[in-house]
Amino acid sequence: MAFGRGKAILLGEHGVVYGHPALAAGLEVGVTAFATDAKEDRLFIDPWDVEVSPADTPELAAAFRAVRGLYPERPVEVRATVALPAGAGLGCSAALGVGVVRALDAWAGETPTDDEVAERALRWERVFHGNPSGIDNTMAARGGLLLFQHGAAPVPVRARNPIHLVIGNSGSSSSTRAMVDDVARQRTRSQKKVDGAFEAIAAMVKNGVAALERGELKNFGQLMDMNHALLASLMLSTNELETMCQEARSAGALGAKLTGAGGGGCMVALAPNAEKAHEIVRSLGHINKEAFVAQAG
Ligand code: PMV
Repeated sequence: MAFGRGKAILLGEHGVVYGHPALAAGLEVGVTAFATDAKEDRLFIDPWDVEVSPADTPELAAAFRAVRGLYPERPVEVRATVALPAGAGLGCSAALGVGVVRALDAWAGETPTDDEVAERALRWERVFHGNPSGIDNTMAARGGLLLFQHGAAPVPVRARNPIHLVIGNSGSSSSTRAMVDDVARQRTRSQKKVDGAFEAIAAMVKNGVAALERGELKNFGQLMDMNHALLASLMLSTNELETMCQEARSAGALGAKLTGAGGGGCMVALAPNAEKAHEIVRSLGHINKEAFVAQAG
């Protein structure tokens, strides 16, 4: 079964669109997919109950067309099952793109490398995001704990300790394209402020990698908090995300921040250990927010 992985950006979203580095962790959840010969080209997506033909006009059909053209012409049916929330900052569309690409590869008897899969899935991503940095499709294809910078080979990070994360969903979705466009508008109005924020975030990414390599989780948590404050200064946070970050910190998280595009979607928190991670999940449940534990590194 083909698989495309979800991801959580631990530090550096949005700056990564402008060529700065970001640090992300691959998740165990994602999209599974399978392709078979059929009477005509079709893509089925569960549990959304969506059926797409390349002849349709919406974005999903355009994305399917963008990757479908890379493969033999004989008709194919792809069935994908999505286990990630969409529009929640966990790279759902890239995971779907990678799942579909890998299913088509298996069907066509091709065995591309992870980097080639990521490259093919970028065609899919471009339909949704216009100007994707490439972090989502790279993470969806490779997973692990990666330092990503546009135009450079991703660098695996060796964290000294296991990293216990809590991912909490605010329940409201947002459009990555809209959030990226909003930051671009802010940058047109006040380039110095926005570039200054991204340079500070880039320094946090650098320090964060060093902290993980040395096993300094407390320092890493503080960097997550600082990164969140800078993202909030770019109006990417919401009341719900603020409440969730506060709740996670009060329940013992070493740091918490929005993850992905913001404007809704998910929060990621760093727990000092597995037990605390489950406590944080429970306390988010008390404020009616769905959350799950993930491990990186
Ligand atoms: O919200 P997501 O999962 O699509 O993540 C977007 C990450 C951004 O840095 C905001 C955009 C990008 O292309 O890197």
